[in-house]
Amino acid sequence: MSIHINADPGQIAKTVLLPGDPLRAKHIAETLLEDAVCFNTVRNMLGYTGNYQGNMVSVMGTGMGIPSHSIYVHELISNFGVKTLIRVGTCGALQTGLGVGDIILAMSASTDSHINRLRFNGMDFAPTADFGLLLRAYEISRDLKLAPAVGGILSSDVFYNDEADWWEQWAAFGLLAVEMEAAGLYTLAAKFSVRALAILTVSDNIITGDKATSEQREKGFMQMAKIALMAACN
Ligand code: HPA
Repeated sequence: MSIHINADPGQIAKTVLLPGDPLRAKHIAETLLEDAVCFNTVRNMLGYTGNYQGNMVSVMGTGMGIPSHSIYVHELISNFGVKTLIRVGTCGALQTGLGVGDIILAMSASTDSHINRLRFNGMDFAPTADFGLLLRAYEISRDLKLAPAVGGILSSDVFYNDEADWWEQWAAFGLLAVEMEAAGLYTLAAKFSVRALAILTVSDNIITGDKATSEQREKGFMQMAKIALMAACN
Protein backbone atom coordinates (compact mmCIF):
# COMPACT_ATOMS: atom_id res chain seq x y z
CA MET A 1 0.00 0.00 0.00
CA SER A 2 1.30 3.45 -0.91
CA ILE A 3 -0.39 6.84 -1.18
CA HIS A 4 -1.52 6.35 -4.79
CA ILE A 5 -1.41 2.55 -5.18
CA ASN A 6 -3.72 0.42 -3.02
CA ALA A 7 -1.95 -2.89 -3.65
CA ASP A 8 -0.67 -5.41 -1.11
CA PRO A 9 3.06 -6.19 -1.00
CA GLY A 10 3.77 -8.95 -3.52
CA GLN A 11 0.82 -8.06 -5.76
CA ILE A 12 3.06 -6.08 -8.11
CA ALA A 13 5.73 -7.80 -10.23
CA LYS A 14 9.38 -6.70 -10.32
CA THR A 15 8.84 -5.77 -13.98
CA VAL A 16 6.21 -3.16 -14.87
CA LEU A 17 5.08 -1.81 -18.24
CA LEU A 18 3.92 1.81 -18.07
CA PRO A 19 1.48 3.20 -20.62
CA GLY A 20 0.15 6.69 -19.88
CA ASP A 21 -3.47 5.66 -20.31
CA PRO A 22 -4.88 3.30 -17.63
CA LEU A 23 -7.28 1.81 -20.18
CA ARG A 24 -4.26 0.86 -22.28
CA ALA A 25 -2.91 -0.92 -19.22
CA LYS A 26 -6.20 -2.82 -18.95
CA HIS A 27 -6.12 -3.69 -22.65
CA ILE A 28 -2.49 -4.92 -22.54
CA ALA A 29 -3.29 -7.01 -19.44
CA GLU A 30 -6.39 -8.53 -21.02
CA THR A 31 -4.82 -9.33 -24.37
CA LEU A 32 -1.18 -10.18 -23.59
CA LEU A 33 -1.09 -11.44 -19.99
CA GLU A 34 -2.61 -14.63 -18.61
CA ASP A 35 -4.61 -14.63 -15.37
CA ALA A 36 -4.32 -10.84 -15.02
CA VAL A 37 -5.57 -9.42 -11.70
CA CYS A 38 -6.21 -5.72 -11.05
CA PHE A 39 -4.12 -4.35 -8.15
CA ASN A 40 -4.93 -0.64 -8.26
CA THR A 41 -8.06 1.45 -8.63
CA VAL A 42 -7.00 4.63 -6.83
CA ARG A 43 -7.85 7.57 -9.14
CA ASN A 44 -8.80 4.94 -11.74
CA MET A 45 -5.07 4.55 -12.47
CA LEU A 46 -5.56 0.88 -13.25
CA GLY A 47 -2.74 -1.59 -12.67
CA TYR A 48 -2.70 -5.34 -13.38
CA THR A 49 -0.40 -8.24 -12.68
CA GLY A 50 -0.41 -11.37 -14.79
CA ASN A 51 1.73 -13.95 -16.44
CA TYR A 52 3.76 -13.57 -19.65
CA GLN A 53 5.39 -16.80 -20.83
CA GLY A 54 5.99 -17.96 -17.29
CA ASN A 55 7.08 -14.56 -15.95
CA MET A 56 5.13 -12.41 -13.49
CA VAL A 57 4.66 -8.99 -15.10
CA SER A 58 2.61 -5.91 -14.18
CA VAL A 59 1.23 -3.13 -16.33
CA MET A 60 -0.01 0.15 -14.92
CA GLY A 61 -1.14 3.55 -16.23
CA THR A 62 0.78 6.64 -15.11
CA GLY A 63 -1.19 9.59 -16.47
CA MET A 64 0.43 12.27 -18.61
CA GLY A 65 3.49 14.37 -17.88
CA ILE A 66 6.57 14.05 -15.69
CA PRO A 67 4.85 14.93 -12.36
CA SER A 68 2.10 12.29 -12.65
CA HIS A 69 4.42 9.67 -14.15
CA SER A 70 7.04 10.29 -11.44
CA ILE A 71 4.59 9.78 -8.58
CA TYR A 72 3.72 6.28 -9.79
CA VAL A 73 7.29 5.36 -10.70
CA HIS A 74 8.57 6.54 -7.31
CA GLU A 75 5.98 4.48 -5.41
CA LEU A 76 6.41 1.40 -7.62
CA ILE A 77 10.15 1.40 -6.92
CA SER A 78 10.32 2.53 -3.32
CA ASN A 79 7.15 0.92 -1.93
CA PHE A 80 6.85 -2.19 -4.09
CA GLY A 81 10.47 -3.00 -5.01
CA VAL A 82 10.02 -2.77 -8.79
CA LYS A 83 13.33 -3.25 -10.62
CA THR A 84 12.53 -2.94 -14.34
CA LEU A 85 10.24 -0.21 -15.72
CA ILE A 86 9.37 0.15 -19.39
CA ARG A 87 7.31 3.07 -20.60
CA VAL A 88 5.23 2.27 -23.68
CA GLY A 89 3.81 5.43 -25.19
CA THR A 90 3.25 7.61 -28.19
CA CYS A 91 5.34 10.52 -29.40
CA GLY A 92 5.42 13.29 -31.98
CA ALA A 93 8.28 12.83 -34.45
CA LEU A 94 10.73 15.72 -34.85
CA GLN A 95 12.43 14.40 -38.00
CA THR A 96 10.81 14.17 -41.45
CA GLY A 97 12.21 10.67 -41.98
CA LEU A 98 10.09 9.28 -39.14
CA GLY A 99 6.57 8.25 -40.09
CA VAL A 100 3.43 7.36 -38.21
CA GLY A 101 3.75 3.90 -36.65
CA ASP A 102 7.57 3.94 -36.49
CA ILE A 103 9.12 2.64 -33.29
CA ILE A 104 11.62 4.73 -31.32
CA LEU A 105 13.84 3.49 -28.50
CA ALA A 106 14.74 6.49 -26.37
CA MET A 107 18.45 6.40 -25.54
CA SER A 108 18.34 9.70 -23.67
CA ALA A 109 15.68 12.23 -22.73
CA SER A 110 16.39 15.96 -22.90
CA THR A 111 13.77 18.06 -21.19
CA ASP A 112 12.35 21.55 -20.77
CA SER A 113 11.13 20.50 -17.31
CA HIS A 114 12.91 22.11 -14.37
CA ILE A 115 12.39 19.11 -12.14
CA ASN A 116 16.07 18.16 -12.32
CA ARG A 117 17.28 21.76 -12.07
CA LEU A 118 15.44 21.81 -8.73
CA ARG A 119 16.85 18.44 -7.73
CA PHE A 120 20.44 19.24 -8.71
CA ASN A 121 20.54 22.82 -7.48
CA GLY A 122 20.51 24.46 -10.93
CA MET A 123 22.79 21.93 -12.61
CA ASP A 124 21.94 19.55 -15.46
CA PHE A 125 21.50 15.80 -15.25
CA ALA A 126 21.47 13.59 -18.38
CA PRO A 127 18.57 11.09 -18.11
CA THR A 128 19.63 7.92 -19.93
CA ALA A 129 18.07 4.53 -20.69
CA ASP A 130 19.41 1.26 -19.29
CA PHE A 131 21.83 -0.01 -21.94
CA GLY A 132 21.01 -3.71 -21.48
CA LEU A 133 17.26 -3.13 -21.89
CA LEU A 134 17.84 -0.81 -24.83
CA LEU A 135 20.05 -3.32 -26.59
CA ARG A 136 17.61 -6.16 -25.97
CA ALA A 137 14.64 -4.09 -27.22
CA TYR A 138 16.67 -3.12 -30.29
CA GLU A 139 17.53 -6.73 -31.12
CA ILE A 140 13.93 -7.88 -30.60
CA SER A 141 12.51 -5.04 -32.73
CA ARG A 142 15.00 -5.80 -35.50
CA ASP A 143 14.16 -9.52 -35.39
CA LEU A 144 10.48 -8.53 -35.76
CA LYS A 145 11.53 -6.44 -38.83
CA LEU A 146 10.38 -3.25 -37.14
CA ALA A 147 13.58 -1.23 -37.87
CA PRO A 148 13.49 0.86 -34.68
CA ALA A 149 15.05 4.33 -34.55
CA VAL A 150 17.37 4.75 -31.57
CA GLY A 151 18.40 8.14 -30.20
CA GLY A 152 17.61 11.11 -28.02
CA ILE A 153 14.11 12.38 -27.46
CA LEU A 154 12.55 15.39 -25.74
CA SER A 155 10.35 15.04 -22.65
CA SER A 156 8.40 18.28 -22.68
CA ASP A 157 6.13 19.78 -20.03
CA VAL A 158 4.13 21.49 -22.79
CA PHE A 159 1.70 19.80 -25.19
CA TYR A 160 0.04 22.95 -26.58
CA ASN A 161 2.99 25.21 -27.29
CA ASP A 162 2.58 28.98 -27.79
CA GLU A 163 5.32 29.17 -30.43
CA ALA A 164 4.77 27.45 -33.78
CA ASP A 165 8.50 26.81 -34.28
CA TRP A 166 9.29 25.65 -30.71
CA TRP A 167 10.62 22.29 -31.96
CA GLU A 168 13.20 23.55 -34.48
CA GLN A 169 16.28 23.74 -32.27
CA TRP A 170 15.60 20.36 -30.66
CA ALA A 171 15.20 18.85 -34.15
CA ALA A 172 18.37 20.58 -35.37
CA PHE A 173 20.26 18.95 -32.48
CA GLY A 174 19.05 15.54 -33.66
CA LEU A 175 16.26 14.70 -31.25
CA LEU A 176 13.94 12.14 -32.79
CA ALA A 177 10.66 12.90 -31.09
CA VAL A 178 8.77 14.63 -28.30
CA GLU A 179 6.75 13.01 -25.50
CA MET A 180 6.16 14.00 -21.89
CA GLU A 181 7.50 11.41 -19.40
CA ALA A 182 10.78 9.62 -20.18
CA ALA A 183 13.13 12.15 -18.51
CA GLY A 184 11.26 11.62 -15.23
CA LEU A 185 11.41 7.85 -15.59
CA TYR A 186 15.13 7.73 -16.41
CA THR A 187 15.99 10.11 -13.57
CA LEU A 188 14.16 8.05 -10.94
CA ALA A 189 15.63 4.83 -12.32
CA ALA A 190 19.09 6.35 -11.82
CA LYS A 191 18.23 7.59 -8.32
CA PHE A 192 17.07 4.14 -7.21
CA SER A 193 19.57 2.07 -9.29
CA VAL A 194 16.91 0.21 -11.28
CA ARG A 195 16.48 -0.37 -15.03
CA ALA A 196 14.29 1.78 -17.30
CA LEU A 197 13.53 2.22 -20.96
CA ALA A 198 10.98 4.20 -22.99
CA ILE A 199 9.66 2.54 -26.14
CA LEU A 200 7.60 4.91 -28.26
CA THR A 201 5.47 4.76 -31.39
CA VAL A 202 5.13 7.81 -33.59
CA SER A 203 1.49 8.96 -33.37
CA ASP A 204 2.08 12.19 -35.25
CA ASN A 205 4.80 14.08 -37.03
CA ILE A 206 5.26 17.63 -35.73
CA ILE A 207 6.87 18.80 -38.99
CA THR A 208 4.66 17.20 -41.64
CA GLY A 209 1.44 17.22 -39.59
CA ASP A 210 0.76 13.52 -40.33
CA LYS A 211 -1.39 11.80 -37.68
CA ALA A 212 -2.02 8.16 -36.88
CA THR A 213 -5.47 6.65 -37.29
CA SER A 214 -6.88 4.84 -34.26
CA GLU A 215 -6.05 1.50 -35.96
CA GLN A 216 -2.42 2.59 -36.41
CA ARG A 217 -2.27 3.65 -32.74
CA GLU A 218 -3.66 0.32 -31.62
CA LYS A 219 -1.21 -1.63 -33.81
CA GLY A 220 1.72 0.46 -32.55
CA PHE A 221 0.69 -0.10 -28.95
CA MET A 222 0.51 -3.83 -29.21
CA GLN A 223 3.87 -3.95 -31.02
CA MET A 224 5.51 -1.88 -28.28
CA ALA A 225 3.93 -3.93 -25.52
CA LYS A 226 5.26 -7.13 -27.10
CA ILE A 227 8.77 -5.70 -27.50
CA ALA A 228 8.66 -4.50 -23.88
CA LEU A 229 7.48 -7.87 -22.55
CA MET A 230 10.07 -9.78 -24.55
CA ALA A 231 12.88 -7.39 -23.56
CA ALA A 232 11.96 -7.50 -19.88
CA CYS A 233 11.45 -11.26 -19.69
CA ASN A 234 14.70 -12.34 -21.37
N1 HPA B 1 3.80 16.28 -27.79
C1 HPA B 1 3.99 15.65 -26.65
N2 HPA B 1 3.70 14.38 -26.49
C2 HPA B 1 3.21 13.70 -27.52
C3 HPA B 1 3.01 14.31 -28.73
C4 HPA B 1 3.32 15.66 -28.87
O1 HPA B 1 3.15 16.28 -29.92
N3 HPA B 1 2.49 13.38 -29.57
C5 HPA B 1 2.39 12.24 -28.87
N4 HPA B 1 2.83 12.43 -27.63
